[in-house]
Amino acid sequence: NNTFSTLFVGQNLIKLSAVDSTNNYLKKLTSNSEPLPEGTVIMAEHQFAGRGQLDNVWHAAPGKNLTFSLLLRPNFLAVEKQFALNMLVSVALSNVLLKYLPVGLSVKWPNDIYVGDKKIGGVLIENILVGSKIKQSIIGIGLNINQSDFADDLNDRITSISQILQQDVNLMVLLNEICTQIEQLYLKMKAGTGTTLQDLYVSKLYRLNKLAKYSAKGQIFEGTIEGISPEGLLRIKPLDGHIVEFGFKEVAFIQQ
Ligand code: BTN
Repeated sequence: NNTFSTLFVGQNLIKLSAVDSTNNYLKKLTSNSEPLPEGTVIMAEHQFAGRGQLDNVWHAAPGKNLTFSLLLRPNFLAVEKQFALNMLVSVALSNVLLKYLPVGLSVKWPNDIYVGDKKIGGVLIENILVGSKIKQSIIGIGLNINQSDFADDLNDRITSISQILQQDVNLMVLLNEICTQIEQLYLKMKAGTGTTLQDLYVSKLYRLNKLAKYSAKGQIFEGTIEGISPEGLLRIKPLDGHIVEFGFKEVAFIQQ
């Protein structure tokens, strides 16, 4: 029902003018009896209660940004490999955005999209596991596109494409590009030929190999990000020690 250049991602596209959260909406739809096609995308012009990671709120000015959720059924992926989805989506988003923003783009572990030291996008993945397999994955993506003003307290931490380029970008064109990238990487992963995904992902990491400040267990320390573990834990080497692996809630990046 649309002109996306994909086989399935985004082919069933449901556009809402307003919704609390596209992730919530998609989750409800998948619990109805009628099965939804894989690749279904719910996008909202206005998302008034968008959710972020760690129970954060995701704010986006109505009509100006991309807020959407995508349904995948990666039942070929073992539960302990689920971080592959985070890597896939981060790499896809960064590949697409690189065309618009060739300078300063990176992925802040686990899957924030950054330009310089400012966040331009975030990802919230919600998986349903059955046994040792991933039955369903709802991939929520929020990208700041044509919103050029942010609240004063956010201005030095958040940016958008239009703020950087001084020019608006067509949201549907961008959504098509994102769906196309995600589909390509997903089909490779499904075929078992996506072996370089982790290297690609690590090469894009914000602060990779740069000495910076972190906090963990109430302590601030200096260290360098060296990569990730096979399960997706962040590997940081403190200035004066051996590499330590951190889970998502265990480490904070200190802004400097
Ligand atoms: C984060 O950076 O903490 C993740 C933000 C994820 C926001 C997107 S917007 C579309 C989808 N629906 C939601 O409620 N959240 C995600």
